[in-house]
Amino acid sequence: MTLNIGWIGCGNHASEMLLPQLVRHDIRFSAIADLDPQRLALIGNRYGVATRTTDALALLDTPGLHAIGMAVGPKQHAEFAAAAMRKGLAVFIEKPPAATAAEADVLAQIADSTKQVCVVGFMKRYSTANRIAGNILRTPAFGSSASLLGEYMTAPGYFVGNPDYTGFLLHHCVHAMDLVPWLMGQPVTTVHARVHTLEPGKLLLHTGFGFASGALATVVMGTHQSRGTPMEWWQVMGDHQRVEMRNVHEVRHYRAPPFKVSDPAATLDPATDTLGWEPNLTAAANEDHKGYHALIGEFLKAVRGEPNDAPRIAAGAQAMRVLEAMVRSMQSGAVEPV
Ligand SMILES: NC(=O)c1ccc[n+]([C@@H]2O[C@H](COP(=O)([O-])OP(=O)(O)OC[C@H]3O[C@@H](n4cnc5c(N)ncnc54)[C@H](O)[C@@H]3O)[C@@H](O)[C@H]2O)c1
Repeated sequence: MTLNIGWIGCGNHASEMLLPQLVRHDIRFSAIADLDPQRLALIGNRYGVATRTTDALALLDTPGLHAIGMAVGPKQHAEFAAAAMRKGLAVFIEKPPAATAAEADVLAQIADSTKQVCVVGFMKRYSTANRIAGNILRTPAFGSSASLLGEYMTAPGYFVGNPDYTGFLLHHCVHAMDLVPWLMGQPVTTVHARVHTLEPGKLLLHTGFGFASGALATVVMGTHQSRGTPMEWWQVMGDHQRVEMRNVHEVRHYRAPPFKVSDPAATLDPATDTLGWEPNLTAAANEDHKGYHALIGEFLKAVRGEPNDAPRIAAGAQAMRVLEAMVRSMQSGAVEPV
């Protein structure tokens, strides 16, 4: 069934990342809203959208809509998603789902009481390397995950002159607050952040995450690397094996091979040697290794009532609780419960 979609917020992220992937699915792009008439004209003309408005709440009354998507900002996500669900519409919201965990919890309660789909834009679960890793990590052969190491950096550009870091925490770090428990297959129970400021605007965090199982995770996040370099690396270790994901599209699975140096018959054994994968970036195919296309596909399945694994608002609220525990730990210096 072709779904009629309304969209709120036609800014950078929507126009460059989300909408080009949305229109690859079986949808009709029915209505858009943005406060900025120039953005409305640009995106409306690009996709031939009939209904264009500067009033996001009025967009919700467009006849025939099945679902709303939005990429605006935390306050607006909470307000517009609540209004959409109360009008009987399924919702996709970019992260962060709200400005606070309490507001995200309200959205989760509205999703429950209205029985509406509310999906959050945690596309890192769907980037090719993370998806492959997740499937390996959930096999019985991998066993339980003992630890996670990660680096998830960004550049100082956004934060120089605004070193309160609210944007860094809400818009950048929140991805890690979802990805860490997703990769580990268990909820985060404690957070301990160690902080170093290189200079105003250049913040470094070494954050430890604890789990009820005793497993350990450490993630380095900061605002002092160039966005012209790869910014993301993860490794999950089990017993005698580990999976590494580099730059969202390379993955390696290390297992327990024998030493090869003194074995004249040494070869590569598919049962024990390292498995690796990276994409062919010259394939003439409209692929999205970052995960937006796959995430939106899962959302649309949820709207149609088909089986799906789209990240729901309850996971969004949980990520916000972990984020708030990290902020408390940055202030107290102590291990904080989630
Ligand atoms: N998942 C990701 O990889 C990713 C990447 C970038 C941004 N994002 C998220 O997407 C969201 C938007 O980010 P962006 O970089 O596109 O910002 P942006 O400022 O470029 O775009 C926001 C748009 O919303 C419009 N807007 C603001 N208030 C509005 C209102 N009340 N009604 C209608 N339109 C309104 C603005 O005019 C603007 O066009 C943020 O929540 C951000 O965290 C996610």
